[in-house]
Amino acid sequence: MSEAAYTSNSPEETRNIARNFAREVRGGDVVLLLGDLGLGKTCFVQGLAEGLGWVGAVLSPTFAILQEYETRPPLAHADLYRLETPGAVFGLGLEELTEAGFILAVEWPSRCPDAWPDSAWRVELTAVANHENARTISIRRNGDKTCR
Ligand SMILES: Nc1ncnc2c1ncn2[C@@H]1O[C@H](COP(=O)(O)OP(=O)(O)O)[C@@H](O)[C@H]1O
Ligand SMILES: [Mg+2]
Repeated sequence: MSEAAYTSNSPEETRNIARNFAREVRGGDVVLLLGDLGLGKTCFVQGLAEGLGWVGAVLSPTFAILQEYETRPPLAHADLYRLETPGAVFGLGLEELTEAGFILAVEWPSRCPDAWPDSAWRVELTAVANHENARTISIRRNGDKTCR
């Protein structure tokens, strides 16, 4: 189990934490983004994409559900907020993407809680009482990082 916790006071800080995280994550990894609406899950993915070398826009794929970025390794960003049923996730081809070496970042993974590998990273954003722009961000992963 590895775990790190940060405090972010702005969207820029959240992107920065994610840019640093980009150095640890590998092709084929699944990154689950946990936390309520508006806490910065998409913002975190923007920083992750930047850290992987992406210079364009990163939009919330709420309606598209899935967006791919030609970074190295390539990044797939899913937002399952509007997933109709838990089983519908299997029609998205997410497993094929990770098998092909994509990093897969997922907003609202709770829409289909049984779909994710034990080895997934869990990035959890939490509001801080009385601080509108502050979030705690914890990043954890089961297992030994050295034997991926
Ligand atoms: N510390 C922070 N980290 C990330 N976003 C923040 C922070 N403080 C304020 N915000 C604002 O919160 C919103 C987060 O939006 P978004 O990333 O789309 O959230 P989510 O994807 O979790 O719904 C943005 O409007 C952003 O400007
Ligand atoms: Mg979002």
